[in-house]
Amino acid sequence: MFFQNFFLFLFFVYFSIQITNNRPIIGIVTEPSLTELEKYGSQYIAASYVKWIEGSGARVVPIKYTLSSSELIQILDQINGVLFPGGDASLDGTQFYQTLKSIYNYAIQKNQEGIYFPIYGTCLGFEALNILTSQDMNILSKVGMENITLPLYFTTLTPKSRMFKNASSEILLILSSKNVTLNNHEYGVLVDTFNNNNKLSQFYSVLSYNYEISLQKLPFVSTIESIDYPIYGTQFHPEKNIYEWRIDEDINHSFDAVLISQYFGNFFVSESRKNSQHFANQTDEANALIYNFPIIYTAKDEPSFEQCYFFEP
Ligand SMILES: *[C@@H]1O[C@H](CO)[C@@H](O)[C@H](O)[C@H]1NC(C)=O
Ligand SMILES: *[C@@H]1O[C@H](CO)[C@@H](O)[C@H](O)[C@H]1NC(C)=O
Ligand SMILES: *[C@@H]1O[C@H](CO)[C@@H](O)[C@H](O)[C@H]1NC(C)=O
Ligand SMILES: *[C@@H]1O[C@H](CO)[C@@H](O)[C@H](O)[C@H]1NC(C)=O
Ligand SMILES: *[C@@H]1O[C@H](CO)[C@@H](O)[C@H](O)[C@H]1NC(C)=O
Repeated sequence: MFFQNFFLFLFFVYFSIQITNNRPIIGIVTEPSLTELEKYGSQYIAASYVKWIEGSGARVVPIKYTLSSSELIQILDQINGVLFPGGDASLDGTQFYQTLKSIYNYAIQKNQEGIYFPIYGTCLGFEALNILTSQDMNILSKVGMENITLPLYFTTLTPKSRMFKNASSEILLILSSKNVTLNNHEYGVLVDTFNNNNKLSQFYSVLSYNYEISLQKLPFVSTIESIDYPIYGTQFHPEKNIYEWRIDEDINHSFDAVLISQYFGNFFVSESRKNSQHFANQTDEANALIYNFPIIYTAKDEPSFEQCYFFEP
């Protein structure tokens, strides 16, 4: 009787303890190269996103947006989360958008099957998440938030959110009072639009907002967390505080700004440690990692990202 209960007890302990994968690998989706970067290659990933993930304790595999569905699923099945980066790519019916959609649908399906699979969207990636969830290409409004560094306005949902419940009072104070989050987006999701859209408001919690300058200083959504899925987005760019140095961009590199960049990176990578998917073997893993691709110092001769990785289909 004792042993029977004891094994039942072990069974429950085993299945209630969360997996911790201390060798997480994050996929980052490529984008069609911006005009000034085309000479280096047709697809790119700004290295700041890669370093941001690496600096938080994970490795990176590139996910070419031109992969076939079967190639895409094959990669997704072996990694622990995906970052949708910022950039300037069109989302309107493009292959890039279709790939983000397939990844989003994959994450929803895996999480429904009990496999924790996080996604983090930054800037364009954040906008893509809002379009994917609302299934509405016209969900964005022109907000004119280019090159503006701001503090966040938190909501009543912030303290209990997964994203912020473990944040120290120091982090929360910096985020809510200092100009540390860089906005660089022509479009955004107005809080009113969000609240009036059932698909968005039933899927995400708004954890922060800011005021736009293009219309009538209306609030727009700046941080989201899905209520039931490990899906997160920030309209601002946490990776730039540490890794991008353009002098014509209002990027804050202060000690506090670096702390908040690391906060978001640490949060996302800690989410990916809850997923235990892995490559079939070391050879497959090695061949997939971004280390196979050269990094180029693009800002040396173009006003651009400091460094980028380039890819061909
Ligand atoms: C918050 O911290 C607790 C205790 O350290 C930990 O168990 C939990 O996973 C953390 N939550 C998140 C969302 O990081
Ligand atoms: C933050 O930036 C805004 C303008 O972008 C400025 O008006 C405000 O004074 C700044 N606040 C701090 C604390 O530097
Ligand atoms: C971006 O903002 C910074 C700081 O306000 C300013 O020095 C810079 O000229 C701006 N860049 C552009 C392209 O407007
Ligand atoms: C950068 O962040 C610091 C906080 O560390 C803040 O005091 C300062 O106003 C910010 N600088 C700019 C230019 O926004
Ligand atoms: C690694 O796994 C792949 C299947 O994904 C297989 O084709 C390959 O032979 C394996 N390599 C080694 C060294 O085991």
